[in-house]
Amino acid sequence: MILIKGGTVVDPLKDTVKRLDIVIDGERIKKILPPDKISDTSHFEKVIDATNMIVTPGLVDMHVHLREPGHEYKEDIRSGTLAAVAGGFTDIACMPNTDPVNDSSSVTKFILSRAGEDGFCHVHPIAAISINQEGKRLTEFGDLKRAGAVGVSDDGKSVLNSNLMRRALEYARYHGLTVISHCEDPTLSEGGVMHEGYVSTQIGLPGIPSEAEEIMVARDILLAKLTRCPVHIAHVSTAGSVKLIKMAKEEGIPVTAETAPHYFSLDHTALIEYDTNAKVNPPLRSEKDVEAIKRALRDDIIDVIATDHAPHSPLEKEVEFDKAESGMIGLQTAVPLTLNLVREGFLEITQAIRKLSYGPARILGISEGRIVEGGKANITIIDPNFSYILTEDMIFSKSKNTPFLGKELKGIVRFTIVDGKIRFSSDIKP
Ligand code: DOR
Ligand code: ZN
Repeated sequence: MILIKGGTVVDPLKDTVKRLDIVIDGERIKKILPPDKISDTSHFEKVIDATNMIVTPGLVDMHVHLREPGHEYKEDIRSGTLAAVAGGFTDIACMPNTDPVNDSSSVTKFILSRAGEDGFCHVHPIAAISINQEGKRLTEFGDLKRAGAVGVSDDGKSVLNSNLMRRALEYARYHGLTVISHCEDPTLSEGGVMHEGYVSTQIGLPGIPSEAEEIMVARDILLAKLTRCPVHIAHVSTAGSVKLIKMAKEEGIPVTAETAPHYFSLDHTALIEYDTNAKVNPPLRSEKDVEAIKRALRDDIIDVIATDHAPHSPLEKEVEFDKAESGMIGLQTAVPLTLNLVREGFLEITQAIRKLSYGPARILGISEGRIVEGGKANITIIDPNFSYILTEDMIFSKSKNTPFLGKELKGIVRFTIVDGKIRFSSDIKP
């Protein structure tokens, strides 16, 4: 048995923040009780002193690129899930843009079996919407669901054909799969490498207008309205997308949305020095967009914070800006960057944790993201006040592509417990 003693338990479901002790027996939470009720701790195998720490449900990241199969030099299921537990995540959903693409039950089963052998946390595969993500023919949603996929997405690309997207929404609802939409009109974004704005003009790089995202957000909202089937919008980055999602929610259209920590922590000025680690798709936007994203999180227009962890090696990043691949790693920076929003007063702590746990779990249709007696012991323990400089040796991902290297972060994950087992612990000191 494990005792977590003296921590501040953040319960995103009950919306409470309370000092409580937690007893874990085997895979489950046996008891949650007021502090100092247990005087004799001798029969516990491990007592975790969580004084001054926050104790949360195991965090859930619904948008991760694990790169296995196919690009294991960037990341594999072992290194990706290790980075996940180091970032506080007990459950991650992995995107299908691997090689081969996860467009068949055999690839889905392969990922699950590799995660079972080598994984540090639970992995929930997202399969492709279309065969080879080509946007032409739908994959076999029933087979994929039976193999263990929780959702479908052509992430990395949009589904351009509106009729195919309509059918995807309808079949996905029938099969109990979540549709996650990467919103980008490639005819508008083509050739662009960063946000179209005064910085792109200043540094002479071709831009991607906000409308490239917003046109597809609008289309998917309209398809959700037409079909009454839910759609989840991935990596929302613009003020215009926020407006559209707000309108849709007010009309009762079944739409949910996520953003990534980089869209509320950085803007397009991060590219002034041509830092390819800050090149992502959709691109880092303007100061005004960043403000809109923060307010959308506060107002629950954006339901989820997901990392879009996208590992790339120096081969793809240490090249000319226009040739560099898009994406940054994010599993180990999500907690400190989200806590910044709590410190700035944008989010309540329960709200922040909800967007990193129960929020995504509910959208994926998995039971995680809660902390209850009798429930699975998936728990994250965070030291919110610990400040440090992020260095390469702290990063468990195989790839180190993050613009936060060398930057000060505040808040670190101390323990990640998956099904009652401590899968990560950190004793990094000042
Ligand atoms: O920046 C990104 N990287 N955006 C995407 O949509 C795909 C991702 C990747 O797979 O590298
Ligand atoms: Zn992605």
